[in-house]
Amino acid sequence: MWDKAAPAYDKQIAFYERIWFTGGRQWIGARSRGRVLEVAVGTGRNLSFYPRETTITGLDLSPAMLALAARRASELGRVIDLHEGDAAHLPFDGATFDTAVCALSLCSIPDPQRAISEMHRVLVPGGTLLLLDHVASTWPPLHGAQWVVEQATRRLAGEFQTRRQRPLVEATGFTIAEADRLKAGTVERLRAIKP
Ligand SMILES: C[S@@+](CC[C@H](N)C(=O)[O-])C[C@H]1O[C@@H](n2cnc3c(N)ncnc32)[C@H](O)[C@@H]1O
Repeated sequence: MWDKAAPAYDKQIAFYERIWFTGGRQWIGARSRGRVLEVAVGTGRNLSFYPRETTITGLDLSPAMLALAARRASELGRVIDLHEGDAAHLPFDGATFDTAVCALSLCSIPDPQRAISEMHRVLVPGGTLLLLDHVASTWPPLHGAQWVVEQATRRLAGEFQTRRQRPLVEATGFTIAEADRLKAGTVERLRAIKP
């Protein structure tokens, strides 16, 4: 599915970045330090926001997405170590990264708890987890509408509208350092630390 979506992805997500996830990629870049792992890196839309002194590793399930991320990195003159793989089974040793990022993807990754546990495993103690995603709204009528939409999107695209990552992050043992709910609570930005 993501291989098929790859050619049109940049154009489609640019619209949502403007109206919904505004400033989210800048938010991630400003909080990224050291050895950065981006899980479900897609076409690499966060790449231009990472500080120059960071080293970037990206992982994604889709070869077509990874090919576009490689092209973007070369256009930006950035080195990125790209891996094809599953967020549920990260092919990295424990305590390898200073920052783990996952943007707009835990809404569709089949087992988000497992993916968060894997990011916890590969972070060094004191390392930072950065998440950006759409989540269940804090406003009940909107939450209801999201549930209705979800009945279609989870069947058609494996995408959930009413998930929320914060309880999973806390259950994994991270300490929440920063948490913003935006756009009637439908967008969440989380910064969490591995103790
Ligand atoms: C909506 S795109 C987000 C891409 C990118 N993170 C961004 O911010 O634009 C979702 C991405 O998740 C990837 N993905 C879905 N399930 C995955 C999994 N289990 N492991 C790794 N990547 C996965 C897809 O291939 C796709 O590139």
